[in-house]
Amino acid sequence: MSSHSHTDGKQHTARGLFVSSTGTGIGKTIVTAGIGAYYHEICRRRIRIWKPVQSGVTLGDPEADSYRLRLGSGLLHIPEEEVATWTLQDPLAPWMAFERAGIEFSFGCLLEEGRRRQKDDSFLLVEGAGGIAVPFNAAHTMADAARELGLPVLLVASSGLGTVSHTVTAVQYARERGITDLAVVFSGPPTLADDRELAENARMIEAMAEVPVCGIVPWLVQPSHARAMETAAWTAWRQRWLASFVHMKKMTAWLQERA
Ligand SMILES: Nc1ncnc2c1ncn2[C@@H]1O[C@H](COP(=O)(O)OP(=O)(O)OP(=O)(O)O)[C@@H](O)[C@H]1O
Ligand SMILES: [Mg+2]
Repeated sequence: MSSHSHTDGKQHTARGLFVSSTGTGIGKTIVTAGIGAYYHEICRRRIRIWKPVQSGVTLGDPEADSYRLRLGSGLLHIPEEEVATWTLQDPLAPWMAFERAGIEFSFGCLLEEGRRRQKDDSFLLVEGAGGIAVPFNAAHTMADAARELGLPVLLVASSGLGTVSHTVTAVQYARERGITDLAVVFSGPPTLADDRELAENARMIEAMAEVPVCGIVPWLVQPSHARAMETAAWTAWRQRWLASFVHMKKMTAWLQERA
């Protein structure tokens, strides 16, 4: 059975969002946490936040995506063990991290776990691992998980030089895997691209990949080290994030249409 055969060429859509990116370390966790806070605090939407697989960290580590997603979004009622299903030791693509940990991974189990989280009226907000083509195993990537769960994909891309090729390639790959509902958002320090470059990069990507580019998210460094242990530091981060994020009209409209 080929998991990426999709009969009608249309992706079934469910309530939720899969946040992916053009590569690793671009800003998915920050964007996912910030969107979680937006849905939760501004839209008053009941949401679940999920990082199916993380690697190179342990639960409770303030550097772990599960920790940062929970504290960043402010969804403190969700235990960290519920945020991340598989936490693997080696900082590798899930496929190899599973292999090295001696875990027999089943893509079916991952989908079951996702569907269990989609059963009620909650909005399922997912952060993938690494970029959109990152493999869970030899047959399945992040894009396959998003498609099988019926989720639109938000691609977090770098704002600066080099982003056009990475982003156009990532969008094409996602479409090839059956993702039909897609958008792009930039994340990067203000030093990486000025307003003109940002607008030009967005225009090139929109023209070439026919995908909406929803602007650039706030550049706001998250609490780290000792400060990452203080809930108040995260609350302050979240308030500052939301104060600028609500002005991203194209982004918030896109999110509201999918809430
Ligand atoms: N909007 C932003 N504001 C502040 N820092 C940012 C932002 N976007 C990216 N960064 C920086 O980039 C780093 C990587 O961001 P983040 O952890 O969100 O990436 P990621 O795509 O989730 O990575 P991974 O592939 O490991 O999950 C952050 O630690 C931070 O230093
Ligand atoms: Mg991350």
